[in-house]
Amino acid sequence: AEGLRAATRARGITFGTAVRHDLLQSDAAYAALVAREAEILVPEWEAKWDALQPEPGRFEFGQLRSIALFARAHQQRLRGHALLWHVANPAWLEPALAQGEARAAAVMEAHFTAVLRETHSYIRDWDVLNEIIANPPGSDNPSPTQDDLRPTPWLRALGPGYLERALRLARGLDATLRLTLNDYGVEADTPWAEAKRQRLLRVVRRLVERQVPLDAVGIQAHLQMRDPFRAEPFLAFVQALRGLGLAVLITELDVREPDQLAPSIAERDAAVADYVTRFLSAAVEGGVRTVLTWGLTDRNTWLAEEPGVARADGQRTRGLPFDEALRPKPFHAALGRVLGG
Ligand code: G3I
Repeated sequence: AEGLRAATRARGITFGTAVRHDLLQSDAAYAALVAREAEILVPEWEAKWDALQPEPGRFEFGQLRSIALFARAHQQRLRGHALLWHVANPAWLEPALAQGEARAAAVMEAHFTAVLRETHSYIRDWDVLNEIIANPPGSDNPSPTQDDLRPTPWLRALGPGYLERALRLARGLDATLRLTLNDYGVEADTPWAEAKRQRLLRVVRRLVERQVPLDAVGIQAHLQMRDPFRAEPFLAFVQALRGLGLAVLITELDVREPDQLAPSIAERDAAVADYVTRFLSAAVEGGVRTVLTWGLTDRNTWLAEEPGVARADGQRTRGLPFDEALRPKPFHAALGRVLGG
């Protein structure tokens, strides 16, 4: 199968994937696959707070730099993920944020300043705000509040203005960056996905109306096949974001198969490919031109590792374009058809 890097170039679509620095170094076959398939990379973990600033004021850029070197060697671009998130933070952060607004603002400024200065030459596009929209009732882990914003330590420390503060700080530190707000659970044809889409649109509209710097919205697309998908509501959502002058990216595409599995591997893989085809066709029709999967192979995926996400029956999921032996699956052919062609 032709690599997606070449296949998508003709359509002006950028395909990429999340990578892990340790696998790029230890697994030559994985590294070769990443080099052949991806135009853009995003560190799966290495650009998060617990990787970058494990102690207050002590920054660790080695693992991120090793990914940047790999990207440069293969003429690939790099996305940053994520400047603010309520997960993957070092133990010292929440106590620091609890010390009040001045301390929280100083902590944010110190992190952004150090990280954007370090990565200026190799990351041009950041998920500045990750998973900031509160999950509506009915969704997985619904938020206790009815507000649009997820109650995170940053919200508690700085109030709703923390969004504007973070985006203005990033823009002020480097006006050439593409600033992205990234979230999940806005893809399916369910009441709670629709509610989350409306919440995200309200928050983003307010930012745009106040001329807060924001260039793009990232839709994670951790698709769940237990949820129905219908193009219309998702397409309307992408078009509404585009109408606000924002780029829309698919940032973390993978597929969580339904709990009751089809009998054969071939049927499972075909069902996954069909679901992805319907989703990506709507995304591309809405104007999406950047698509990243959250990993390339079933051999290494959070879907098989994260407690509570992995399959109850112990079978490994098959929710990425390549299987455990790095062979392309119908998912890969689907990407080639929808993004290349
Ligand atoms: O903690 C160790 C660290 O000490 C060590 O140096 C490092 C070496 O690689 O590994 C670290 O382990 C784990 C890390 O992944 C790297 O593999 C962390 O314990 C583990 O919590 C972390 O999990 C990641 C998770 O985000 C939290 O950061 C998953 O791999 C990653 O797939 C997942 O990705 C998230 C996106 O960022 C946001 N959207 C949802 C998505 C899935 O949860």
